Amino acid sequence: MFDILIRNSAWVLTGRGDVRGDAMAALAPVRAGAVGIKGASVAWVGLEADLPKEALAQTPRVLDAQGGLVTPGLLDCHTHAVFAGQRAHEFAMRCAGKSYLEIAAAGGGIASTVRATRKATEDDLIASARPRLRRLLEQGVTTVEVKSGYGLNFDDELKMLRVVKRLNALQPATLVPTLLCAHAIPEEHRAHREAYFELCLNSILPAAAKEHLAAFCDIFVEQHAFTADEARTLLARASQLGMGVRLHVDQLTPGQKGAELAVELKASSADHLEQISEQGIAALARSETVAVLAPTSTLFVKARPFAPGRKLREAGAVVALCTNVNPGSAMSDSVSLAMGLACLENGLTPAEALLGFTRAAAMALRLPQAGRLQEGAPADVAIFACPDIESIPYNMGTNLVRTVVKSGRVVVG
Ligand code: NIG
Repeated sequence: MFDILIRNSAWVLTGRGDVRGDAMAALAPVRAGAVGIKGASVAWVGLEADLPKEALAQTPRVLDAQGGLVTPGLLDCHTHAVFAGQRAHEFAMRCAGKSYLEIAAAGGGIASTVRATRKATEDDLIASARPRLRRLLEQGVTTVEVKSGYGLNFDDELKMLRVVKRLNALQPATLVPTLLCAHAIPEEHRAHREAYFELCLNSILPAAAKEHLAAFCDIFVEQHAFTADEARTLLARASQLGMGVRLHVDQLTPGQKGAELAVELKASSADHLEQISEQGIAALARSETVAVLAPTSTLFVKARPFAPGRKLREAGAVVALCTNVNPGSAMSDSVSLAMGLACLENGLTPAEALLGFTRAAAMALRLPQAGRLQEGAPADVAIFACPDIESIPYNMGTNLVRTVVKSGRVVVG
């Protein structure tokens, strides 16, 4: 009757509650629950004791959760998982006291990864991204947003997006491609930055749209990157071309009003937010724009304070989390580390942190059926070797996932 049955759980988190309300109510756990999967969709969720009598005998594949936690497949809604090279020397510079912006001004930072990524072929980029995506999958991440942004010219931005498209077909996770040509001003355009913005607006963006290479368009609004007005212009064009829009905002410099800008532009998400103001918090709380926090990068670039996750939640904003895995500001793809930091430093509860990697992240990616386990939802499931949510952030940096199902197929375990 099912193709796969998951049984013997401590809890099944259905995620069917209100995402802005109490996080545990939003996760809507079923104690000793079971999940029946048919094809690529969830067919049944409920108490194992309520399973139809014949279910166990008639289901060809039964997954024993061994008393563990069963969650929806996780979504990592902000990554830069495709890149070439590495920046370990910048890490050492930061340990010696240089800031992220100082390192960038000295020719390092994003520009350094751009040089390496431009030299790489599509096949090189695929080969280096696959282990990252595999590690995410092994942590239960069945949907990954992946940005361009290390090409910063016509050919190399499109190359990055084509790599994401090819990767989508080469491994089990669903990849959501985002065009981030407005990530930094490339070195060759520093003297005439408007020419690069024109290239983004009039060449790269329309070409990405024409080839259907990007679901979202993103922009980094920051000193030395792009202005609020450039964001308005670029993202308005992206919306006209049918893309969703998102912004890197309020990350490093205070007083930029980035969250307010994201709300004004009806963005799917406003990402980072370490420097968000009280007005920005209020604006996000009144909006459909999801606050995406990236605590690993706050730690990694020593950019204090951490984003005010507690205040955002209490104001009524939807708060998602991400690994933000990238070579410069977060060389870590650990979900439990991001969740642990979100609890210790952003002030979220463990349940809010898990909601941040499930329902809230799905909202940021405009995938309303993802991040939940309900009849008809995608059969994306993670089974943890722990019985409770708290154990996930508590085991910071350790992966407790034992089994992963993606689109109705067992892909890990
Ligand atoms: O999301 N903020 C800008 N972009 C990335 C960092 C990219 C890099 O340093 O390579 C981020 O943190």
